[in-house]
Amino acid sequence: MIHKLSDVQSNNIGEGTYVWQFSVVLKNAIIGKNCNVNAHCFIENDVIIGDNVTVKCGVYVWDGITIEDNVFIGPNVTFTNDKTPKSKQYPEEFLRTIIKKGASIGAGAVILPGITIGENAMVGAGSVVTKDVPANTTVIGNPARELIKDKK
Ligand SMILES: CC(C)(COP(=O)(O)OP(=O)(O)OC[C@H]1O[C@@H](n2cnc3c(N)ncnc32)[C@H](O)[C@@H]1OP(=O)(O)O)[C@@H](O)C(=O)NCCC(=O)NCCS
Repeated sequence: MIHKLSDVQSNNIGEGTYVWQFSVVLKNAIIGKNCNVNAHCFIENDVIIGDNVTVKCGVYVWDGITIEDNVFIGPNVTFTNDKTPKSKQYPEEFLRTIIKKGASIGAGAVILPGITIGENAMVGAGSVVTKDVPANTTVIGNPARELIKDKK
């Protein structure tokens, strides 16, 4: 279902995917099946999103970002694709960010460019992720570090 108040220019959107109000999906973006792209999102051109992905409200997915199957992106997560941005100057290629299968990113986290977040990893709400996150690991804080719980 593509909501009539969205602006979806891509024809590469899988069956059963919902795109809600005021979201923009540019022409070359690829989105898989059974995804939910909530309201007020922006999906740029060089973006691949797998199947069963949830993108909550207010998320902008820039060129160079790949989101694999079963990933959860919380509200207002911020992706980036240029480590040293300058107005009106563009890198030859944007750094690539990969969110691997089954990972979840908590609300308002910031993901610096060129990062890989491993399979089934969890990023805590409000974290600033500056380094790759290994699979099956939870990270929190700024800079994000592994959450290790005391086993008292
Ligand atoms: C990271 C997270 C999964 C950890 O949950 P948990 O394993 O139950 O962890 P706890 O609540 O027991 O917290 C453990 C410690 O980490 C701290 N902590 C937990 N989440 C944190 C976060 N996002 N940022 C900073 N510190 C955090 C707690 O304060 C606690 O610290 P303490 O041991 O010094 O008291 C969870 O807190 C989180 O951020 N989930 C994302 C929620 C979200 O954004 N959902 C989006 C859908 S609306």
